[in-house]
Formats: sequence, structure tokens, C-alpha cells
Amino acid sequence: MTTTLPLSRSSAACCCCAGDSLALHDVDHVRFFVGNAKQSAHYWASAFGFQVAQVADLTTGSREEASYLLTQGNIRLVLTSALGGSHPAAHEVERFGDGVKDVAFTVRDAKHAFQLAVARGATPTQEPTTATDDTGSVTTASVKTFGRVVHTFISRGGGYAYDRMRAGGPFLPKFQATTSALNHHNAKHPVGLLCVDHLVGNVRLGEMNPTVAWYEKVMGFNLFKHFDDKDISTEYSALMSKVMDSGAGLIKIPINEPAEGRRKSQVQEYLDFHDQTPGVQHLAFRTDDALQTVAELHRRGVEFLHLPDEYYESVWARVAKQLGHEVREDHEAIHKLGILVDADDKGYLLQIFTKPVQDRPTLFIEIICRRGSDSFGKGNFRALFESLELEQQRRGNL
Ligand code: FE2
Repeated sequence: MTTTLPLSRSSAACCCCAGDSLALHDVDHVRFFVGNAKQSAHYWASAFGFQVAQVADLTTGSREEASYLLTQGNIRLVLTSALGGSHPAAHEVERFGDGVKDVAFTVRDAKHAFQLAVARGATPTQEPTTATDDTGSVTTASVKTFGRVVHTFISRGGGYAYDRMRAGGPFLPKFQATTSALNHHNAKHPVGLLCVDHLVGNVRLGEMNPTVAWYEKVMGFNLFKHFDDKDISTEYSALMSKVMDSGAGLIKIPINEPAEGRRKSQVQEYLDFHDQTPGVQHLAFRTDDALQTVAELHRRGVEFLHLPDEYYESVWARVAKQLGHEVREDHEAIHKLGILVDADDKGYLLQIFTKPVQDRPTLFIEIICRRGSDSFGKGNFRALFESLELEQQRRGNL
């Protein structure tokens, strides 16, 4: 078991000594099920600056699925598509479109973590399986979480050990190094994404509390914050959210459910285009330089939610009052890039949200830069959700 800390979570203690009995060490990777992994890989490389690092497909002995490993900072995305109609990715893409299937955690002992999770009430989706080759061995086992999403526990040995994998070494059996014409460009023009800061699950009405209880009981997470419909409401719609925290600075998972409003909640819109099945609403990637990252994403054609200019008429005073000092970054540049700002009692944060990254109004991406704040931008909720509603209206879904 290595004790290397995740790159961008240097303030975090290693989880294996922080009372997390599943011993979650890092977000190993986030796996998407997509219709065409080859083309998706190009999109994530081109739009978000990921390196297309490794591939497992027919040419590497993967007969059922094609998967691409994309890397940036300490983020690893795996894009998987089916090579035949009986593969689960084929069914899920038909039902849900492209989206997140698996949030996988590196652990010391995947079999042990799996057994513990199942003993605490988790539903197994894959029994412990060990794949061994000349490079090393990897044990994986998965349990179901909300809706379509699973958590896979992964323990790594030999040449697949976490430190080596993280440094760009072999990822999993059947994966081989590959390259893309975009890799050179991305190395020269980095976007600067560092790690998965948090990811948000959308669940159905009445399912937030049972999901939260599941994370507490099975995964050993704690309730970090609770936002009710008074915090997250506009004139038209509302939602409720509870933020679950793995502890040790590893990951936070807010769980959203729709709340009663005059019109349709954004969570309900998500569910309507996701076969009424819970799933990941957004992934938040952290950067330490929001201005550079967002400027680069704009250059690459990433589409962001737009806030009215009036937002910037009041935000500086609001945030400075809470902080006791001004936001350090260039205010004009923040405004020009459309970045949102909020503060809590610990500091401030900069954040921005993309439009959905597929045709269905389901998954989107958040870019977040933390300057001490460990919150989620509560002061922006109203402006943000009003902006989201304009998009909902454009789609005919409000
Ligand atoms: Fe978020």
C-alpha cells in the first residue's frame, strides 16, 4: 500500500489512516459509457485538453469493448464503448446517452473493500476479479450506488501499482500506450485541470435521504453540508442537496433531488432525459489558475453558461464584505471570462459551468478554483439557476 498523496490534495491526510475503513486512497478513474469512444476521446482531448494516453481495443486483445484512457493532472477518464449489442454499454447508451458509469476508487484491498461494502448493505455489480499478466495484477470489484452509477474498488500490484500508474505507467491489463495528434498541442497549451474536486448525483424525488444514508453506512462518508429548497430556488424551480464527504480531502459527492416549484426543476429535466434514472449531473475539475484554465477552454470552444452583466455589479462588494479583503484575481478578467465568485468563512472560490457536453441536457462540467473556501458557491446558486432556466426554456423544458 502506497502512502503517496494525491497531487492536488496535498493538505489531505492519507485516507487509510483517517478512519475510512474502506481505505479509499484516490479516485482511480471515472469511466464513461459512450456511443463511440474513439470520437469521444478526440472531443475530451480537443475541448478539455486531456492527453489520449492508453487504449484497449481489438488491436490489444479487448474483444468486447473499446476503452480510451485520458489523463490530465491527477484526473483519469476512461471512455468505454461496446463492440457488440450485448455489452452493457450498448444498452445504457441507448437508454441514457453518453454519461458517467463508474466512479472507481483505488484501495489497498479491493476484495476486502467490496466484502465490507456488501456486508453493510451494498448491492454487488461485479464480484472480485483479478487480472494478471507479465506487468502485474489488478483486482477489481464493484457495487451499485445511485441509479446507473457504480463504484469500483481497485487494488493494484506490480507494474500496475498506483504510483506507477499515476506517473503514466500501465493502467490496466489490455491497455497499451497510444498517442493522438492532439497530445503535442495539449502539452504545449495546457488547460491546467488538476483533480476531480467533486461530482454531483441527481436522484428522484424522495431519494436524496436514502442515498445519503447509503453513503454514510456503506462508504463511511459524512454529511458535509445541507442545502434546502430555500437555498436553491428561483421564482420558478427548486432543488435540495446534501453534500457527502469521503473525508481526508479525497472527494465530495453532493446528492440533488428535485423540489416543488412553479415550473420544472433542473433535476427533473435531467431525469426526463435519463430514462427517469439517477446519474451523475456534473463533474467538477479543480484548477489552481481559473483565469488561465477558463481562457484556454474558451479558446478551445467549450460553451459555458452565461451570466448577466448585473451579476458583476454586486458580486465584488458581497464577496469582499464576507472575506474582509478583495478577490486577488483581476476583476475585469473574471468578468470577461464569465467566471463566478463566492466566499465562505474560510476563503473564496472561482467557478464556472459548461453547457451540457452531449445533446441530452444531462452531464455538464464545472471548473472550480479554491482559495481557501471548501464550499460550493451558495451565493451563486440563484444567479446560476436563473441562467440554467434560460437554457431550459430554450430547450422547451421549463
Ligand atoms: Fe458543483
